[in-house]
Amino acid sequence: MAEEKVCVTGAAGFVASWLIKRLLSAGYHVVGTVRDPGDAEKVAHLWRLEGAKERLRLVAADLTAEGSFDDAIAGCRGVFHTASPVVGVEDGCDPESRILRPAVDGTLNVLRSCKKNEALRRVVLTSSSSAVRARNDFDPAIPLDESSWSSEDLCRRLKIWYALSKTLAEKAAWRFCDENNIDLVTVLASFIIGPSLPSHLSSTSSDVLGLLKGETQRFQMHGRMGYVHIDDVALAHIMVYEKDNAEGRYICSSAVLENDELAAILSHRYPTLPIPRRFEKAAGHRASGYEFDTSKLKRLGMNRYRMPPPPGPYTGKSSLALVARASAFTVGLVYGSVKLKFLKMKAKSSKKTEAKEHH
Ligand SMILES: NC(=O)c1ccc[n+]([C@@H]2O[C@H](COP(=O)([O-])OP(=O)(O)OC[C@H]3O[C@@H](n4cnc5c(N)ncnc54)[C@H](OP(=O)(O)O)[C@@H]3O)[C@@H](O)[C@H]2O)c1
Repeated sequence: MAEEKVCVTGAAGFVASWLIKRLLSAGYHVVGTVRDPGDAEKVAHLWRLEGAKERLRLVAADLTAEGSFDDAIAGCRGVFHTASPVVGVEDGCDPESRILRPAVDGTLNVLRSCKKNEALRRVVLTSSSSAVRARNDFDPAIPLDESSWSSEDLCRRLKIWYALSKTLAEKAAWRFCDENNIDLVTVLASFIIGPSLPSHLSSTSSDVLGLLKGETQRFQMHGRMGYVHIDDVALAHIMVYEKDNAEGRYICSSAVLENDELAAILSHRYPTLPIPRRFEKAAGHRASGYEFDTSKLKRLGMNRYRMPPPPGPYTGKSSLALVARASAFTVGLVYGSVKLKFLKMKAKSSKKTEAKEHH
C-alpha cells in the first residue's frame, strides 16, 4: 500500500495538510492540488513535511474549472477529496455561488476526473457531521449514526448553508459513484481541533482562537457540537482508504459538548484568558441532546481517539465526564494557544524586519 500514489485535493488546507503529513510518513507518493501552487507562503508548510521533497508534487486545480483535476488524479490509486469551501455566507451574499455550487459541482468535477483514471481503487470524501445532525425529527435518546442525513429543508429554512453544502455534495457523490461503479467511502468529521500546520488559519481554527480571545459570536451559533482531534481525522481517512472492508459512511467524532459546557471547562482550565463563562442562547435550530454513535469506525479499527470520548451521556453532573471532556479539549487548545503565540511572534518579527528595511 505505502508505495502507492494518491491524490489529496485542497492540499494546503487544515485537514489536508495533516492528512498529507500522515500519508508521507506512511511512505505514500502524494499529488496535492492547490489553487495556486506558486503561492509560496500558502504551501511552505507542505514542503517542510518529512518526505515532501522526495514524494510530494503540487498541481494547480480549481473546483470550479471543469477537467481541472484530470492531471493530478491520473494514475493515482486513491483520491482523498477534502477541498470544499469552508466559509460563512454573509447577508446579501448568494449561497448558491458562494458555497453550494463550488461544493457540489466541484465534487462532481473531481469524481469525473476519477472516472477517467483506470488506476483508481477508492475515493475517500471528507464529509462532515453537519451532513448528519442538522435535523429536528430524531429521538435524542438514540445517538445519531451513519444512517442519518441532515434535512435539506431545515438547512434552507434556517440558512445553515455550510451543512447544506456538505449534505448536497455528499449525496451527489454517492449518486455519481453508484452510477459509475466507483468505490467511495466518506468520513463525517465533527468540529476539528488541534494544531494547524498552515500559517494561515482555517475557519474553524480561527473560531477556536477567537474563543480563547473572548469572542463569543461564532461559537454561540454552534450550540451543541461534536469535537475531534485533527490527527484522529487524518488517521481515520487513511484507515478507511486502506482497509478493504471499509464501506459507506463513517462518523469520526470524539466528544459532544454544549457550548456552555465548553466555556465552563475552558475558563476553568485557562483562568487568565478572557474566555466567556456563558453563551447567549442562539436563535434558530438547536438539535438539543444529540450524541453520535461512532461504533462503525471503532469496528473498523479506530480504537483510540486523542480526545477520549466521555464515559457516558452527559448529565451535567458527572465529574468523570467533565474530566474526560476537559482533557479532550485541552489537547487541542494547548496546541492552539502555542500556535497563536507563534503567529504573534512571527508577525512581530516580520514587522521588525520591515522596520529595519525602512531605516
Ligand atoms: N474543520 C472542520 O472542523 C471540519 C469538520 C468536518 C469536515 N470538514 C471538511 O474538511 C475539508 C477541509 O476543511 P478544512 O477545515 O481543512 O478547511 P480549509 O483549511 O479552509 O480547507 C479547505 C480547502 O478547500 C479548498 N478550496 C476551497 N474552494 C476551492 C476551490 N474553488 N477550488 C479548489 N480548492 C478549493 C481550499 O483551497 P485553497 O487553499 O486554495 O483556498 C482549501 O485548501 C472540507 O471538506 C470541510 O468541509 C472540516
